[in-house]
Amino acid sequence: MALVKHDIKDIKLAKEGKQKIEWAERNMPVLRSIRERFVKEKPLKGLNMACCLHVTTETANLARTLKAGGANVAVCASNPLSTQDYTAASLVKDYGISVFAINGENNKTYYKHIHQALDFKPQITMDDGADLVSVLHSERKELIETVLAGTEETTTGVIRLRAMEKDNALRFAVVAVNDSKTKHFFDNRYGTGQSTLDGVIRATNMLISGSTVVVAGYGWCGRGLAMRAQGLGAKVIVTEVDNVKALEAAMDGFQVMPMSKAVPIGDVFITVTGNLNVIRAEHAKKMKDGAIIANSGHFNAEIDIPGITKAAKSKTNVRPMIEEYKIGGKRIMILADGRLINLAAAEGHPAMVMDMSFANQALASEFVAKSYAKLENKVYTLPDKVDQEIAKIKLKSMGIGVDKLTKEQKVYLNSWTMGT
Ligand code: ADE
Repeated sequence: MALVKHDIKDIKLAKEGKQKIEWAERNMPVLRSIRERFVKEKPLKGLNMACCLHVTTETANLARTLKAGGANVAVCASNPLSTQDYTAASLVKDYGISVFAINGENNKTYYKHIHQALDFKPQITMDDGADLVSVLHSERKELIETVLAGTEETTTGVIRLRAMEKDNALRFAVVAVNDSKTKHFFDNRYGTGQSTLDGVIRATNMLISGSTVVVAGYGWCGRGLAMRAQGLGAKVIVTEVDNVKALEAAMDGFQVMPMSKAVPIGDVFITVTGNLNVIRAEHAKKMKDGAIIANSGHFNAEIDIPGITKAAKSKTNVRPMIEEYKIGGKRIMILADGRLINLAAAEGHPAMVMDMSFANQALASEFVAKSYAKLENKVYTLPDKVDQEIAKIKLKSMGIGVDKLTKEQKVYLNSWTMGT
């Protein structure tokens, strides 16, 4: 049988991909229950969907779910280094889903693949970082008419979309999946916390225990990362620009200081701020010999690699994923060219947590397929009942039960007359 359209590394990797997709699926009970319902109800029947996501085994299970719901799905990568080539191969061969993504692709190919996914004339877009929306609004404006709505996975993408909404530039509604509680409380915190350290450890084989880990940014990702690094025995320093978050980090028991004070102390620096040039040449010059810098924010702009390269005497590849820069008379390592370390050097967040993120994505697609006509060109969040439902199924799959409010308690919660 002819294969669906694709541009991937090697179709022969499909066998490995299928095994790993099925392995991930074991830990995705919420998504599985949605898929079983989608098979019967077909809420996405006949809709073209372009999905710009990290091409992982977890994403494969989401793509299968969308297809089960009746959608025609095209997948492209949301980062040039995060594609699992075996997953891409299996999606094409075993699941008949078009994929345009190759691990290590250069910028030109990355954008060519985004255009190839857009060539499917999507009615629903699914983004992780808003690159599809951005290309649609700049280079492929002619396709916007057919787009009904979109969904967005990550904090960085939601920030970009809210900026577009504020400028009246957004031309269709987008659901901010990131803002669901069952997404950012878990994926950003426990997912990023664990997978970032997994990436740093796989890239370097370093011992975290006893080291000083500097976490730049104390959003949900930074909180999770600081907590997990401390759990592995690191001394953790947090840097922040927001006073409230800095205070929270201090009261959570971490040392808090400006980056300029942290640079001579830290052994490992990890950025999770969502902002630009958080670690610059002026910082790298003052770091200890052997210091390690990594990024786990969406874009590779948190470390000023061009500035550091310019100030460095030399740059040498000393191990896969590790570039050593001679700067200020010392050796400073930058991991994975500043790309998201958890996906570049490890496998991203575990399926157990992506289950909830992607359950939100699947339900957000269903929501926009049903409600697009009523939506304005704004950023929306899913209703609280979706969070409650996802948490309920997840808890059930974990064998955990919860209490029910008594009648008396319900009355009490709705009353303003009862006091002491
Ligand atoms: N983002 C972080 N981890 C991920 C994963 N495993 N799959 C897809 N997107 C991710």
